[in-house]
Amino acid sequence: AHIPVLCIDGPTASGKGTLATELAQRLGYHRLDSGLLYRLLGLAAERAGIDTRAPALQQPGCAAALGQLARELPLRFEGQQVWLGDEEVSAALRSEAAGMAASRVAALPEVRAALLELQRNFRRLPGLVADGRDMGTVVFPDAALKVYLTASAEQRAQRRHLQLMAQGIPATMADLLADLQARDERDRSRSAAPLKPAEGARLLDNSEQSIEQSVQQVLDWWQVCN
Ligand code: C5P
Repeated sequence: AHIPVLCIDGPTASGKGTLATELAQRLGYHRLDSGLLYRLLGLAAERAGIDTRAPALQQPGCAAALGQLARELPLRFEGQQVWLGDEEVSAALRSEAAGMAASRVAALPEVRAALLELQRNFRRLPGLVADGRDMGTVVFPDAALKVYLTASAEQRAQRRHLQLMAQGIPATMADLLADLQARDERDRSRSAAPLKPAEGARLLDNSEQSIEQSVQQVLDWWQVCN
């Protein structure tokens, strides 16, 4: 049977996760948070003692080791909990450090290839909402709807700041802005599955929108293409 997919791609902290969760809930679909898989791998690498910073990342064998690690990721989902082996990692995964490590390992073609099938396995009936950087361009090129979600860098840094404060994690706006711009730059300029709008993607800038307005916009588009 044909299994419908709705893709949401876009830069860091543009609200993809919030939008995808809400859409999956309203449509009664499964959800793939692909960034979570890259974050898991970044963390798994750290736990395995693999240095993901340059220049260690460029050493021969490092990419192959990370590809191997990606194929063997001992991950388990239990409700809201994420387990890596016998460690509950959902809090650790949300840190800025995990996001940075994720974007470093995500630049490796070996890693992206290793995670491809795992991601496609999330496509189950009655349908899937997938969010990330290359859902529409690489992982689900036949998706019925592709949305490219953006917001100004200042807006994104501010939202991230509020999120972190709510969790009691200290961070300055200047650091957050610099971090997300570095991550966006790396995601856009890499040669393996760079961040860019998929062909035919609908562009949605939510800088001035409420979550509900974005949800309604995407649901309207979804209705038209189904
Ligand atoms: O979306 P999130 O911030 O959790 O993603 C963390 C990092 O994982 C991104 O900065 C990006 O480098 C990488 N990523 C990716 N492809 C995806 C999802 C995430 O390269 N589909």
